[in-house]
Amino acid sequence: MAFSPETHAAAQEIIARYPAGRSRSALLPLLHLVQAEQGCVTAQGVAFCADVLGITRAEVGAVATFYTMYKRHPVGDYLVSVCTNLSCALLGGEDVYERVSKLLGVGHDETTPDGSITLEHAECLAACDYAPVMTVNYEFYDQVDPDSAQAIVEDLRAGRRPAPTRGGPLCSFAEVSRQLAGFGDPRPEGVAGPGVGEPSVVGLLVAEAAGWSAEQAPAPLVTHGVVADAAAPRPAAPPPAGPPPAVVPAPTTPASSERKGS
Ligand code: FES
Repeated sequence: MAFSPETHAAAQEIIARYPAGRSRSALLPLLHLVQAEQGCVTAQGVAFCADVLGITRAEVGAVATFYTMYKRHPVGDYLVSVCTNLSCALLGGEDVYERVSKLLGVGHDETTPDGSITLEHAECLAACDYAPVMTVNYEFYDQVDPDSAQAIVEDLRAGRRPAPTRGGPLCSFAEVSRQLAGFGDPRPEGVAGPGVGEPSVVGLLVAEAAGWSAEQAPAPLVTHGVVADAAAPRPAAPPPAGPPPAVVPAPTTPASSERKGS
């Protein structure tokens, strides 16, 4: 399947964002662009990127297979990512994953038979302060549990788009892939969702309450989970360290030819 004229035009628009002679830097958004049209990065998508950038397919393939956001199998309308890394696992992320997997009847990197939902384990979604978290097309659903995760997935299966905890309203995987390629969300409400939540700014709130600023903040501010009182006198600085210990030269290693001969 050849790529559409729209994708060709969009590719040129992406490349034009970069200085002359640096067009290969456009590879990451181009991979999102081909993924938007084909649902994953296919061999055709790799060839397309290589051709428009004048680089080899091996170079494109090396990048496409390095990053987990570039998919090798077609993704459904919704990519459901459940974090099972440490913070989320400690708070029930595995239970969330198991419930969603059982409900959908698919495992990691698999898509439901109707092609609508793809499930994946995720290795930290960069929202540990809201653990356990899951995302749908990279929009966050914070502090989920098996029941709330099931309700989200049931909404998706019923054709509804449940509102994420933060960020804009859900769109399709193709649409979010195009946004990741650097094209804005055309929906006015796309950037109107709630922004940062309280868990992300707890440290800032503590600092503000204590009257700290970046210049004043002495280290360490937190010791063993206890926030230091900014008004309390600071402990005296430790005395200067003594002279560094004498360096004992490492034994020399015989050259390989010497070892062979020994
Ligand atoms: S461990 Fe789950 S978001 Fe970081």
